[in-house]
Amino acid sequence: MQESHAWSGRFSEPVSELVKKYTASIDFDKRLAEFDIEGSLAHATMLHKAGVLSDDDVAAIRRGMAEILDDIRAGRLEWSVDLEDVHMNVERRLTDKIGDAGKRLHTGRSRNDQVATDIRLWLRAQIDAIVGFIAELQTSLLELAEKHADTVMPGFTHLQVAQPVTFGHHMLAYVEMLARDAERMTDCRKRVNRLPLGAAALAGTTFPIDRQYTAQLLGFDDVCHNSLDAVSDRDFAIEFTAAASLVMVHLSRLSEELILWMSPRVGFIDIADRFCTGSSIMPQKKNPDVPELVRGKSGRVVGHLIALVTLMKAQPLAYNKDNQEDKEPLFDTVDTLIDTLRIYADMMRGVTVKPEAMRAAVLQGFATATDLADYLVKKGLPFRDSHEVVALSVRYAEGRGVDLADLSLDELKQFSQLIEQDIYQVLTPEGSLAQRDHVGGTAPNQVRAQIARHKARLAS
Ligand code: ARG
Repeated sequence: MQESHAWSGRFSEPVSELVKKYTASIDFDKRLAEFDIEGSLAHATMLHKAGVLSDDDVAAIRRGMAEILDDIRAGRLEWSVDLEDVHMNVERRLTDKIGDAGKRLHTGRSRNDQVATDIRLWLRAQIDAIVGFIAELQTSLLELAEKHADTVMPGFTHLQVAQPVTFGHHMLAYVEMLARDAERMTDCRKRVNRLPLGAAALAGTTFPIDRQYTAQLLGFDDVCHNSLDAVSDRDFAIEFTAAASLVMVHLSRLSEELILWMSPRVGFIDIADRFCTGSSIMPQKKNPDVPELVRGKSGRVVGHLIALVTLMKAQPLAYNKDNQEDKEPLFDTVDTLIDTLRIYADMMRGVTVKPEAMRAAVLQGFATATDLADYLVKKGLPFRDSHEVVALSVRYAEGRGVDLADLSLDELKQFSQLIEQDIYQVLTPEGSLAQRDHVGGTAPNQVRAQIARHKARLAS
């Protein structure tokens, strides 16, 4: 049987099947049901306190909503596309159960302020979960960093060997990115956590509502102070998706590195088999599917950001049906991000580092050339001149097919008489690392200090 719309009285013919399907959101917004009920219960409690709903009405609403919640959790509730969206589905089920009291619930509100409230309640919960998953990934990266606080690897610029760093230091770079990501999420939460309810359709309501009380019941920090703005803007969702995009962009960078490092041509790491797949035709292959998919899915989330910004652009005040399109991009952003963070925390525990391969790459790349330059500067040579000395030494070593540290003191002295025996403490990768001993530097004790700082931060 067709169920009639709450608004059908004004119309002389039913909407076409195609339009019904086109305009309905129940297929996706049913996901908001529990938050819709939470918002409705707070609204009913407030109306009761304001003398708008009787004791009996509010008791019936609470009882009916509790049953609906059970039905939803047990998968018994049948969602109807005739009833368009989650709000009208829940309201109709309530009225079926408790009669007129159910119809009185919608006093002093509109689906416009209702849906804005639901999304904010839902998103707030997701942000809290995401901040937790970011922390778990950081913990997993910190474990790896700790294990490899001394492991030498080439640091790259332009993907050319530049200077030695430790693998722990490299992992900590991502811990820093993720710390800012969590900060952005927490900051965005402040603006998500404001109550639109009470704005009604767009102009507020003639009923004696108490918005601060509803806000307090729902754990919102404040109310939205303009009714037109409250029902129409989705900037909080855009801001969240921008923050989510940055997490994905950061993880796409790490993914790219993992893929590169796992290539047999580089061979710096291995990723546990459970995160890789084979080829149906080439038996020798082990493909880093998970990082590749993360790299690919980062595009998907950035796409959702563009969708939401474009959805909002040039929308006149106040509510427009366009805004129904905010949900799918937002839901998919959250799902993609949470799945990615969880799989990543697990995958990083399955990374095996190959220190010999990393060290060999450092030795092949003249990674300590800058250290030789700095050594000469400390002995009084102007930096530009020392740069020249080093360039000539590198060219000579390259001709001989050896690293700078393999040249004899006599060979090195051809380029500058300032070079003494102590140069060999500087030219080894370990010597180079140890000298970068300041906050943010790659010296192993600095790396350990940063690990300790992050651990203390995450534990608090
Ligand atoms: N399903 C709608 C949405 O997601 C709810 C609000 C509908 N309001 C309206 N005036 N048609 O935005």
